Amino acid sequence: MSEKISVLISEEDVDKRIEELGKKISEDYAGKTVHLVCVLKGSIFFTCELAKRITVPVTMDFISCSSYGNDTKSSGVVKIAKDLDESIEGKDVIVIEDIIDSGRTLSYLLEILKARKPASLALCTLLDKPERRVKNVTVDYVGFDIPDEFVVGYGLDYAQKYRNLPYVGVVEL
Ligand code: IMP
Ligand code: MG
Repeated sequence: MSEKISVLISEEDVDKRIEELGKKISEDYAGKTVHLVCVLKGSIFFTCELAKRITVPVTMDFISCSSYGNDTKSSGVVKIAKDLDESIEGKDVIVIEDIIDSGRTLSYLLEILKARKPASLALCTLLDKPERRVKNVTVDYVGFDIPDEFVVGYGLDYAQKYRNLPYVGVVEL
């Protein structure tokens, strides 16, 4: 089965916005090392592009935390499939997400990470769907607010496909 995808945010616009976010983070964390926590799998493309544009020292780790099956609706079930390799105690952590939808994944994840005593804990997401929020989460850095539509590309999938699209697109279901 193949779906029709229309462009919502072009590759050029995504790149430009990531450049701005990298600059802002570099200013905000001047004199520090930022520890980026990439939430697999969706955030991998965004994390790499953002990391390349941060000018303060960067370390990285990966966690896999899912609330979705092969569907476009949240199951409400969140689990950690792969934990971080390193301790975050005393580190200036920025959690990097691809998209915040209901906020369930993030509110769960942030609770867990907070308990591990980082020096600071911030949240950066490429995309945000504020109208869909069920759980309140404070987002420190947002790439784009988007309407309530199912999007793919730049790491985001539909049934594991389309993560490699260099732009953000809408699936016409
Ligand atoms: P939340 O827990 O409802 O905020 O869901 C967050 C996760 O759901 C994201 O990290 C994505 O993996 C997935 N997700 C939510 N909306 C979309 C979408 O429009 N396209 C693809 N994945 C999505
Ligand atoms: Mg995700």
